[in-house]
Amino acid sequence: MFSRYKKDTAPSPATSAPKGGAGTAAARRAAQPAATPSPKPVPAPPVPPRADAPRVMRKPQPAAASPAEVGAADRNRKRKERLSEIKLELHRALLDNLNLAALETAQENDLRMEINAISAEVLQEKGIVLNREERLQLSQELYDEVKGLGPLESLLKDDTISDILVNGPHQIFVERSGKLEMSDVTFKDEKHLFRIIDKIVSAVGRRVDESNPYVDARLKDGSRFNAMVPPIAVDGSLVSIRKFKKDKLGIDDLVQFGAFSEEMAAYLQAAVACRLNVIVSGGTGSGKTTTLNALSSFIDNSERILTIEDTAELQLQQTHVGRMESRPPNVEGKGAVTPRDCLKNALRMRPDRIIVGETRGEEVIDMLQAMNTGHDGSMTTIHANSARDGISRLENMIAMAGIDMPLKAMRAQIASAVHLIVQASRLQDGSRRMTSITEVTGMEGDVISMQEIFRYQRTGLTPENKILGHFTATGVRSHYSERFKMWGYDLPPQIFEPARE
Ligand SMILES: Nc1ncnc2c1ncn2[C@@H]1O[C@H](COP(=O)(O)OP(=O)(O)OP(=O)(O)O)[C@@H](O)[C@H]1O
Ligand SMILES: [Mg+2]
Repeated sequence: MFSRYKKDTAPSPATSAPKGGAGTAAARRAAQPAATPSPKPVPAPPVPPRADAPRVMRKPQPAAASPAEVGAADRNRKRKERLSEIKLELHRALLDNLNLAALETAQENDLRMEINAISAEVLQEKGIVLNREERLQLSQELYDEVKGLGPLESLLKDDTISDILVNGPHQIFVERSGKLEMSDVTFKDEKHLFRIIDKIVSAVGRRVDESNPYVDARLKDGSRFNAMVPPIAVDGSLVSIRKFKKDKLGIDDLVQFGAFSEEMAAYLQAAVACRLNVIVSGGTGSGKTTTLNALSSFIDNSERILTIEDTAELQLQQTHVGRMESRPPNVEGKGAVTPRDCLKNALRMRPDRIIVGETRGEEVIDMLQAMNTGHDGSMTTIHANSARDGISRLENMIAMAGIDMPLKAMRAQIASAVHLIVQASRLQDGSRRMTSITEVTGMEGDVISMQEIFRYQRTGLTPENKILGHFTATGVRSHYSERFKMWGYDLPPQIFEPARE
């Protein structure tokens, strides 16, 4: 029943090898006494206890760290401070000695050798002796500073990390397997952090400063980048990076990870292939774009697909794809190309399907119109917490776009445009699941009628705070079953039967 969807790529494991940076290894080693004691000890508190620690009932945690552990942590901290001071000094020396103009074209090997030679000289001058591991770490960090994005570089290279969130120079959180954790990477100070932000945004021709305090950009590797700098960001610059996954999770991966069931996948395959208009709804970081991308794999290869995004994230497998990226205004406030502009233009480009990465503003009008006027099979995502909430979001967006339309007419337009709402959620244990698939069936009086076809049924919580539950059909017959049949998708009735407890 589930054989027709295209196999994407080999599943990328949710967890892979632990981060192998020399930095972490070095940080764990017992340190030698510092050669130059730090004049100003930085108050770097030990990692705070996990918020869920007291709730893990089965394995009581040791009450407090032993004096030996405290001593080791203290030595680690001092060593880190010392290394970061040396690094700063070396970085200054590099800036003085390196030909910055030649850096752009420098070969990696040449640059590394140059960096090593200059740092060896400075270290010798200062009489500082480092062990091999420290030298390697320092050399890599200096290379990252000169050529890359400084402290962010090691996090960007770590494939187990999906999001990087910087709250000022001394606090960098990362998300691994759906859980946020504090990383041991920091910037020296706000100036250092700002320099890296500036490097990123100036590479894409943008500017960020007091008068333009926030900016969106795309990193070279395709990652989505957003920064907001002081004074709007009160405690130092805020940076959010959604890392680009080279191998986007496909339908197989998502089924395997438990994001939805095989029955739901079979239903979604029929829905997309039969050109139902689909909205993926969900909170921030809930997996909307991933779901949209996976759903797009069900589109036939013969169709012409146009995609519109703020930051190009979708990776469609089909051959006939036109990708568009909207553009914010430049520093003079000119040259903006909004998603709505792209959408209007897309309608003149003979699309079979239009996929809008996220509908969040006035483009909703054109999206609904496209869905209503021959471009069925179009898809988009919206920020909402349930299917019903998603409909209200659409109504609000239409109202905010300044369209003066009676509520009933507005709802009628939504009801005839949208066929299916797929709800993506990030649950409290970090897992991402499709918690509901709801069909829009029409209007009943003034109200849009909907019926849920599948849902995620929660049944409890393990002692480790993992959510227990299963996917189930609700037992409701699909409103679109005739359409599925006509298109050759005769879904077996069992997939609509509720799971037995
Ligand atoms: N089912 C899943 N299992 C594991 N990881 C997932 C799953 N779905 C999405 N992810 C990962 O979660 C992160 C966020 O996913 P995605 O970008 O799709 O979310 P989003 O809802 O579009 O976020 P935003 O609101 O920021 O646009 C990505 O790194 C993605 O690879
Ligand atoms: Mg997204």
